[in-house]
Parts: sequence; structure tokens; C-alpha cells
Amino acid sequence: MASIFPPLTTIIFLLVLLRGGQARDPFACDPKNAGTRSLPFCKASLGIAERVKDLIGRLAVEEKVRLLVNNAAAVPRLGIKGYEWWSEALHGVSNVGPGTKFGGRFPAATSFPQVITTAAAFNASLWEALGRVASDEARAMYNGGSSGLTYWSPNVNIFRDPRWGRGQETPGEDPILAGKYAASYVRGLQGTDGNRLKVAASCKHFTAYDLDNWKGVDRFHFNAEVSKQDIEDTFNVPFRMCVKEGKVASVMCSYNQVNGVPTCADPVLLKRTVRGLWGLNGYIVSDCDSVGVFYNAQHYTSTPEEAAADAIKAGLDLDCGPFLAQHTQNAVRKGLLREADVDGALANTLTVQMRLGMYDGDPSGHPYGNLGPSDVCTPSHQELALEAARQGIVLLKNKGPSLPLSTRRHRTLAVIGPNSNVTVTMIGNYAGIACGYTSPLQGIAKYANTIHELGCANVACTDDKLFGRAINAAQQADATVLVMGLDQSIEAETVDRAGLLLPGRQQDLASKVAAASKGPTILVIMSGGPVDISFAKNDPGIQGILWAGYPGQAGGAAIADIVFGTSNPGGKVPMTWYPQEYVEKLAMTNMAMRSSRSKGYPGRTYRFYNGPVVYPFGYGLSYTHFVHTLASAPKVVSIPVDGHRHGNSSNIANKAIKVTHARCGKLSISLHVDVKNVGSRDGTHTLLVFSAPPAGNGHWAPHKQLVAFHKVHVPAKAQHRVRINIHVCKLLSVVDASGTRRIPMGLHSLHIGDVKHSFALQAHTLGIIKS
Ligand SMILES: *[C@@H]1O[C@H](CO)[C@@H](O)[C@H](O)[C@H]1NC(C)=O
Ligand SMILES: *[C@@H]1O[C@H](CO)[C@@H](O)[C@H](O)[C@H]1NC(C)=O
Ligand SMILES: *[C@@H]1O[C@H](CO)[C@@H](O)[C@H](O)[C@H]1NC(C)=O
Repeated sequence: MASIFPPLTTIIFLLVLLRGGQARDPFACDPKNAGTRSLPFCKASLGIAERVKDLIGRLAVEEKVRLLVNNAAAVPRLGIKGYEWWSEALHGVSNVGPGTKFGGRFPAATSFPQVITTAAAFNASLWEALGRVASDEARAMYNGGSSGLTYWSPNVNIFRDPRWGRGQETPGEDPILAGKYAASYVRGLQGTDGNRLKVAASCKHFTAYDLDNWKGVDRFHFNAEVSKQDIEDTFNVPFRMCVKEGKVASVMCSYNQVNGVPTCADPVLLKRTVRGLWGLNGYIVSDCDSVGVFYNAQHYTSTPEEAAADAIKAGLDLDCGPFLAQHTQNAVRKGLLREADVDGALANTLTVQMRLGMYDGDPSGHPYGNLGPSDVCTPSHQELALEAARQGIVLLKNKGPSLPLSTRRHRTLAVIGPNSNVTVTMIGNYAGIACGYTSPLQGIAKYANTIHELGCANVACTDDKLFGRAINAAQQADATVLVMGLDQSIEAETVDRAGLLLPGRQQDLASKVAAASKGPTILVIMSGGPVDISFAKNDPGIQGILWAGYPGQAGGAAIADIVFGTSNPGGKVPMTWYPQEYVEKLAMTNMAMRSSRSKGYPGRTYRFYNGPVVYPFGYGLSYTHFVHTLASAPKVVSIPVDGHRHGNSSNIANKAIKVTHARCGKLSISLHVDVKNVGSRDGTHTLLVFSAPPAGNGHWAPHKQLVAFHKVHVPAKAQHRVRINIHVCKLLSVVDASGTRRIPMGLHSLHIGDVKHSFALQAHTLGIIKS
């Protein structure tokens, strides 16, 4: 038997080659199928709405319900194949989700740094470039029959609590940063060719989902109690920006309940907010099996048919899981749901498939139809993975300065720690199979001789058996690099952390090695969430600290480039680094963002928490030094508002007017900031602009809010002028206790590093309207 295999595989291989890299048959509307090719839904010349209507009109209800699930059934009589909706591309094409299969001609894909690391780059063009490259590789894999076209990425939940195991997947704790990330990455994935989609992205998990499993409370049973104020000014912001600015083709609802209602069964969240207010042009999908979860685990409805009906009526269009295929037809039969509701859901999913070109016949005719295996893991894609890691790595401490090390003086390095020679740890979760890896040890070995010691067998670091060898190595080397931190055994999906300190005896190892080290000791932390490394911050024996996040397939090369100064770090932490005591004061289940003195509640994130930190949001050093000066900024800004029977411009002078009453248009504040590099090395600076509202809005407003950021490369001794626009209504508004967005009149201030600028916001009434 075995003897027939080699010739057979050879023949298949030759057939594949002869087809010019084009292995996939048409999904539907095959030009060779005379029975379907002239049906209206197959005619690319017709409008999509018309084609979708035609197709739905041809389907029987049994066929319809089998299209409501991720594993959508084929409709052979209409020439439509089955489709697996579930693929992922959080930071490169991933192997999570049955829609993507690595192997054969697609053994690997470029594995970019985990999102928390690329967020630290604060570079919107980088995020878009990552999406563009990931979707090139995704289209290539689709063409080869190895992947789908619908990707359930990015994850844009707010990194609300530092213990969250999935914080690594997110762009951090700030809603505006997360929203910008979402819009940029989605644009990269989906392309910007009008209504056509390169691939379809999905912003998830809507909403207030940021707890996996903490002290026995898990995401399948958690009811997040969230105020209207926090929903509007924190949890929903990235989703709104993803839909409105990123024009995402899908939103995924979450497992948890919000205020007693499962998000996937909540018409206020789905129909009214995402589809109505924000105008989603796309489909709403459940998290995997979340309809089943709210029936079986949350007992939200008493029958499965009611669960199916509630979900679809709330605005759900697609179920990840079998539940809707099993129960929707009976729900219709029982009169809990109209068939027209099912048609509405299908219209949303089929429209996305049509926008992807799936009903346009031969996929090789598609604009991305010629991408193939040679477009995956290309040198330029892999170079972007390296570049993204360099841009994201953050320099937290540099005493002396001892960094960068010099190849002349530091010829032999001790490379120590449980993460010192890791590969898959660097790609975090929701990754795929990387094209290749450069571990930290391999990266450093390109610059110096190395003595390698693990110090601890793994990140749990339960004993000191290997300490002696590590200390010995540090005593011999010219410098020591400790690569420590976390991995997926400590923080992951379904695993929240208990505390913020380094696990086991890692701290002990670092201190002992630093004390013994002959030369400078540099600590590199790999982690998604923040770590309380106060011990290292305060230890004079640890001269340098870098945070690498999970830096992706080329992470070790990027770390080495920064350690030796080939690359000048410019990343900034996208989340607050709290001390361990902080998490002892608050339950992970408490969703409140705002602090409460009377309850002894510290509040969350830099926007509301004012206590001690290890490193603040936005912190990050460089090998050079930048100074800012404000070249121009307005002192007074006037906002046109609709007049009111009971008011005039002088008595609204000190109030906060509703955004809906302001004629916002494109009204924005324009600033010119000069950034001067006063050091002796070229470098990249990230300008962060925070605003603070007038005093007296304390119970509504954040202490400060990131309103703009801009990354700029400035050569040594040079100066660069940066122009920044701040949209007044979107960015200077705050949300009151009832969830209404208002613009406070009076003196606002902007903070850019050490520069502070105040300006007055004034309303000017346009005319009286009778209300
Ligand atoms: C480092 O990791 C690489 C890749 O996994 C492996 O081939 C190599 O043997 C490791 N080196 C040491 C010194 O453990
Ligand atoms: C505006 O309101 C103030 C205070 O209520 C009042 O004194 C003033 O006369 C009003 N001005 C106009 C133009 O109505
Ligand atoms: C932002 O990222 C892009 C893509 O990698 C890069 O070309 C650009 O130089 C970066 N911007 C700065 C200021 O570093």
C-alpha cells in the first residue's frame, strides 16, 4: 500500500503547480455551473442588496437556519458551498478557529508582536500596515483553500483590571487609544476600496467583557454591573470608533451579561446602539457558543427556542456554535420569531460575503485573487514583524545611563532567565505558526558572546536549584541580561492573575544575579499585563529595564537591537503599572471606573485612579532626550450652540452643554508643537496630548484624557514641528451620570509632557429654538 503514496502526492503536487497557485474552486456561482451562473444573485453587475434579496427568496427555512451558524451548511441545489466563518488574525493569521488550517503550502504565517506591544508603539500607520500585511497573507491562504475571509479580530475591550488574562490581546486601558487602534487595524485588514472587502474584520467582545476567571467567577456566568456613564465614556468607545471610523464589517457580542441581560440578547446594545446609532454595515456574531451559554449556564430563558428568538430579535445575525441551527426553526414554528427576522439576519451575513466577492464566480478574478504561498512570510513581512517589535518595546529604566551596551566593552554577556531563549512565548495567544523565530539569546548572540543560564526551569520558578549557575555566569560576563516575566501559563484566556508580582522566585533570582554581576544588569520583562517590579526599579544593581510585551516572532532580534543601540526605543506603556497593593483593594468583579472615597475604592486606569504607581500610562524613555515647546495654540474657542428658550450665552457660560445641542461639524482645536531632540542620538518621540476639563466637573470627568498622539522621528539636534487637531465635541466632551455627553464650558487645559496650555471654551448661541 505504502508504495502508491509517493507517486500520488507527486501527481497532486504537479497538479497544484500547474494551476498556478490557484487551488480553490469558486465558493458559489461557478462559471462552469450552467444551472446557477445566470441566477440574479450570481450577477456581479447587479447591486448587492438586490442579489441578497434574490438569494434569500430562493432559500427554504430549513436551509436558512443552517446558514445562521459559523459552520454554515452548503446549499448544493443553488451551487453554494459550505463556509466556515471562524478565522482569527489578531496579530497575523492565527490557527485559532477552524476556518484556518496551517500545513501543506501554508506551513506558517508572519507572527507580529502581541497587540499590547504594538499598541505601545502609538503609531497608527504601523497598525494599519500590520493589518494590510496580515490580510495579504489571509487572502493568499484563502486562495489556496487554507483559510476563510472572515476574521474575528481585533479584541478592543478596555484593559480595565491589570489581572485580566486577555489584557495582552488588547490595545490597553485607554478608550481613545483602543478606538484608534481598532479603526487603523481594521482599515488595514479590510482595505479601503469602497464597499468591497479584502477580508472582513470583527471588533469584539461587545461589551464590558474583561474578566475571564477570577476567584471562581467566570465569564460565562458573570453579570457586569456597569453604569450608563462608564458604558458611554469607557467600555463602548472603542467599539463606536471601530464601527464609525474603522467601518468594520462585524461586531461580536460577549459571554457576560451587562446589568442582567446577556449582551447577545440585548436589543438596546445590538439593534439600537451598534446597528442603529452607529450604523454598522455588517453582521453581529456571538462569541463561541454564547447563545448556548446564556441558555444553559445563565438560564436566561426557559426554553432553547426562546433563547434563539431573543438573540435574533436583539440583532444577532450569526451564531458561533450550533445553537441557532438547532433551535431557530422551532422558534419560528412556535411563533416566537418571524421568518422575516431570520431573513434580516441572513441579509447581514450574505451582504458581507458578497462584499468579499464570494458570489462573483472564479476567485482568481478577484483583485486579490492572485496572492499565493509566495506572498506569505515574505522577507518584507518578516521585516515588519521585527520593526513592530522595535517600535513597541519600552525602556523603563536606564540608570547611568548604562544602556545601550557597547559591542566593544561588553563582549561577553550572561543571558539568564526562564524567558531568555523562548520562541512561542513571544507570540502570545491568538497566534498562528510563525515563519521562524529569533529568541532573545539568538538575538544577543549576533552582537556578543553569550553564556546562557535559565536560572529557573520555567516562569513559575518554584525553586532556586539553578540559581548558582546563573550567579556564576553573571560573575564572569561583561554584562548581564535577565529575561524574565510571564507566559500563557500565568495569564491567558480563562486565566486571570491572582496578583501582580513576578511568579515564584523570579524576583529573588533577579536580585541575586544583579548583586553578583560583574557588569551592568539589564532586566527584560516579557508579559502582557503589567508587573509590579518595584524591587527592580529601586535596585541600584539593576541599571536598565525593558518591557517587551510579547514581541512576536522576531522579538529577540528587536530586544538585542535595543540593548546594543542599533535601535533607539520609543515605545510607551499603554496601561498603568500598579503596585501589588492596588489589587488587594479592589475586586476584579467591580466594574466601576470612578473612584469612591467613601467606599475606599481607588478607581481604575490613569483616567480615574490617582494613587501610587510603578509606571504611569504613557511612560517610556529614550536613549536621547526631547523637549517640547508650544508654537501656537488658541486661547479661546467658541462653540456654536442651538439657542434655547430658557437660556442665553451668558448663563450657559459655566455649564456643560449637551453635545447634541452643539453644532460640532469639524470644529477642532489646532496646536503646533515643536519637538526638539537635544540629545546626541537620532530618536523617535511619541507626543501624547492629554486634556483636563475645567475644575468642578470632578464627579463626571476623568482627571485627564488622552486626546491625541503623534509619533515623530527627530534626528539628533534637529527640531520637528507637529500639528495636532483635537475635535472639540468628540474629544473635549465628558459624560454625565446619566450617560449624556456634554461639553463643559470654561477653562480646559492641555498637557504635553511638561508643557501645559489653558484655553477657554465658550458657547455662542445661534438663535432661539422653542423646546
Ligand atoms: C535556544 O532555543 C533554540 C530554539 O528553540 C534551540 O535550538 C537552542 O538549542 C536553544 N539554545 C540553548 C542554549 O538552549
Ligand atoms: C442672559 O441671562 C442673564 C442671566 O440670566 C440675564 O441677566 C441677561 O439679561 C440675559 N441676556 C439676554 C440677551 O437675554
Ligand atoms: C510608524 O510605522 C511605520 C510603519 O512601520 C513606519 O514607516 C514609520 O516610520 C513609523 N513612524 C515613526 C515616526 O516611527
